[in-house]
Parts: sequence; C-alpha cells; structure tokens
Amino acid sequence: MKIRSMTLACAFLASCAADTPVEPAQDPMQGYEEVAATTVLNAPEPIPGSFAPENLFQVKRGEYLVELLGCGSCHTDGALEGVPNFDRALAGSSIGIAFSNPMGDRRPGIVFPPNLTPDQETGLGSWSDQQIADALRLGAGRHTGRRIVIMPWQGYNKMTDDDVAAIVAYLRSIKPVRHTVPEEVLPGRSTDKPFVYFGVYRTRDND
Ligand code: HEC
Repeated sequence: MKIRSMTLACAFLASCAADTPVEPAQDPMQGYEEVAATTVLNAPEPIPGSFAPENLFQVKRGEYLVELLGCGSCHTDGALEGVPNFDRALAGSSIGIAFSNPMGDRRPGIVFPPNLTPDQETGLGSWSDQQIADALRLGAGRHTGRRIVIMPWQGYNKMTDDDVAAIVAYLRSIKPVRHTVPEEVLPGRSTDKPFVYFGVYRTRDND
C-alpha cells in the first residue's frame, strides 16, 4: 500500500513537470574552476641594519599593523589560493582580484595586488613616503593613475599619521624582492591568469 501511494505521488510530480517546462538553470560556474582561499597573517621580519636602531619600535609597530590588517593576504603570491609563497611575502600576487562581477560580466576587469617590498624597479623602492601614505589612506594608485578599486583604503582612511609612518618604515625594512605582477586586465579582455571575486549577494523578491 505504501509503495503504491509513492508511485502515485511520483506520477503526479512527473505530469506537473511536463505541463510547466522549466528553463534549465544556467550554471554561472561554467568555464570556471574553484580554488580554496585563505589569509596569510605572517609578515616578514625586518632585516637588521636596514633601519636606525632608534626606529626599532616604529618598525616593529609597522610589522604588527601589517600583520593585523592582513596586507599579506592579498599582496603575497599564492595567498589567495591557500599556498602562500613566503619567499615572496608582500612581493605582489599573480592571482588577481576581479573588480567587476564575473557572473554578470563574462570577462571581468582584474587587478593584481602589487609588490610592496622596497625593490627599486618592481616594488615601492622609488616611492616617496607621501605616495605610499596616499595610496593607503586616499586610494591614489601610482601605477594605474586612477583610484584604487579593490584595496579597502576607505577603511584605512582614518589611520593616524603615526600608524602610516610605522607601516612605511616597516615596508622599507623588509627584504627587497624583484617580482613584477601581471598588468591590469580591462573588462571585456580575456586572460589566462587566475583571479578571485569578493561579492555580497541576496536573492531578489520577484524571482
Ligand atoms: C583585499 C586585498 C588587499 C588588502 C587587504 C590590501 N591591499 Fe593593497 N592593494 C590591493 C590591490 C588589488 C591593489 C592595486 C589596486 C588597483 O590598482 O586598483 C593594491 C594597491 C596597494 C598599494 C599601491 C601600490 C601600487 O603599486 O600601486 C599600496 C602601497 C598598498 N596596496 C599597500 C597595502 C598595505 C600596506 C596593506 C595593509 C594595510 C594593503 N595594501 C592591504 C589589494 C589589497
């Protein structure tokens, strides 16, 4: 008896489905492969001798802030994929971050967190203290010449002069690493570089 009523229920569902054909849902992940993401909290140690002894406290405070604010989770190669390359800590990421939604925009715009080590050519070596401070607090990108889109600089906007100076002093005290990150990808362009996308979603009432 029990089996019989189940059969009826199935037949009913099947006929319902036949009456109201439903469009097959489009898989938004088609063409993508998902990789695990993580956060790196360890900031590299300052190099002894790269700063005046009386600035030790300031440099260590900068190290503490950089660790606390998670700069390395974006600016370290492999970190966004869960396999940080500590030899290149803070030396930029070749995994990008999309700044337009890849589910709506098939080829999103992508930026690559740049090299923050003091390397002259590929890092912040030739930047003035003011330029680093402006990137952090005002989102003024020196490389792209436009407002930084992904880094949460709005959240750093109220950082005190002392804290910014400590971060700058620390970034100048770490090992310079020569590493160029890929060029920014403009929306609509294709790329073979991996990227992540941070988004907040909710379902629409009328769907
Ligand atoms: C959520 C990821 C993320 C975090 C966290 C983050 N950044 Fe960035 N940062 C970026 C990206 C991406 C860019 C390039 C932005 C662009 O061109 O729009 C950038 C740009 C910069 C720049 C400008 C460098 C250049 O070459 O243009 C500096 C300096 C910088 N970040 C320092 C920091 C520091 C210091 C911290 C921690 C206090 C930090 N960032 C935290 C993603 C991040």
